[in-house]
Amino acid sequence: MADALRVGIAGLGTVGASVARVLAEKSAELTRQCGRPISVTAVSARDASKDRGVDLSGSTWFVDPVKLAAYAEIDVFVELIGGDEGPAKASVKAALEAGRHVVTANKALLAKHGVALAEIAEKNGVLLNYEAAVAGGIPVIKTMREALAGNSVSRVFGILNGTCNYILTRMEAEGLSFEACLADAQRLGYAEADPTFDIEGNDTAHKLSILTALAFGTKIAASDIYLEGISNISQADIQAAADLGYRIKLLGVAQRTESGIEQRVHPTMVPTASVIAQVHGVTNAVAIETDILGELLLSGPGAGGNATASAVVGDIADIAKSRPGFQHGPVFGWPAKQLKPYKKAQMRSHAGGYFIRLSVQDRTGVFAAIAKRMADNDISLESIVQRSTEAKDRKTVILVTHETTEAAVRKATDGITKDGHLIDKPQVIRIERAA
Ligand SMILES: NC(=O)c1ccc[n+]([C@@H]2O[C@H](COP(=O)([O-])OP(=O)(O)OC[C@H]3O[C@@H](n4cnc5c(N)ncnc54)[C@H](OP(=O)(O)O)[C@@H]3O)[C@@H](O)[C@H]2O)c1
Repeated sequence: MADALRVGIAGLGTVGASVARVLAEKSAELTRQCGRPISVTAVSARDASKDRGVDLSGSTWFVDPVKLAAYAEIDVFVELIGGDEGPAKASVKAALEAGRHVVTANKALLAKHGVALAEIAEKNGVLLNYEAAVAGGIPVIKTMREALAGNSVSRVFGILNGTCNYILTRMEAEGLSFEACLADAQRLGYAEADPTFDIEGNDTAHKLSILTALAFGTKIAASDIYLEGISNISQADIQAAADLGYRIKLLGVAQRTESGIEQRVHPTMVPTASVIAQVHGVTNAVAIETDILGELLLSGPGAGGNATASAVVGDIADIAKSRPGFQHGPVFGWPAKQLKPYKKAQMRSHAGGYFIRLSVQDRTGVFAAIAKRMADNDISLESIVQRSTEAKDRKTVILVTHETTEAAVRKATDGITKDGHLIDKPQVIRIERAA
């Protein structure tokens, strides 16, 4: 039997400890599948005295993950620390430069430095595997990089943040407020103490930026992503969506358009009957549309120790199966130096259907004025409904448009705001086509 693959794990938190445990518990299966054992020869975390729930007494302990990265007794460096700078970046770079394969679950790091790190990996002929960085346990990277060879992707979109999907699912199912669902998510450990990064869409954007590079062969451009979170989604939106046959999901969407590549993260209405609308709770899903295959939807656990460890261990096993001298495929599907500059399609040119909810004063002519603003901007309406509210002096007007542009909708809602009939800011939610 070939020599053992020697693994160093940096970070022994939720994911790192689970990876160490799975490697120990599944040692026999992995040896059979890979044709060689996988052994954890070294580990690093801050607190050496903490019980990690797994026996690490046979592994050399490093306080400094950068030193572990260059340790001669490892073949693979597994980075499970997190963060886009600091020890995570320094140790991954050091490992690649020392000719070690790297496995990471760190989307923030890849969204910021992925292309530069891929260049080092490709120059040194080592692998940089990152399945767990997008949608946790769902094997979407492998699918896009390997299984969809030859396919041209036209759109990739998905539910990439379990915290947001949990909140939106409970808001719909139980009629609870955003704040109440967020508090429960925090109590259950689905949301961080500071949930901003999840609920404002940044985490989804990091993952989307990686999928965009894989789909379209472009440089990663996370900071160019149009971003709207879910914190201003109310029960009024959820109920209106349900009445109209839609469900609200926070989607990350990347698609090729005539004016460039659109990357956007925002609350989205998807038809209730669509497959992606059936993805509930903390589950993630990624839909990929291609010319050869058509539409593929992968769904499954997007976070948590076991699910994430499953993807990390899969990446380690791929390295165990690879043979010395074998030329590995490029990290993002295209050689890092050939990734094209990202050509951004402006959000104003986005085309699609829109849901618009207006809280208006109950005055004669308001309804007609709204309809006129829509017509003036060439927006054709699928429906326009006026509803009474508990307050006598106000009404809710809900519009659903046929396909139009973001620019037209913004001009129309600006006009309606100027007309002076609105009580609150207009609520605008984009509608996404989904099978
Ligand atoms: N949790 C998930 O469900 C999930 C899902 C997908 C991807 N990820 C990604 O996986 C990575 C790890 O996440 P996690 O949830 O496992 O994080 P975590 O529970 O906070 O664990 C982080 C680990 O890194 C160690 N660490 C922090 N700073 C260090 C330093 N300067 N030197 C050495 N070790 C250091 C910590 O040491 P101590 O334990 O001693 O404090 C801890 O063991 C992140 O990139 C995250 O985005 C996580």
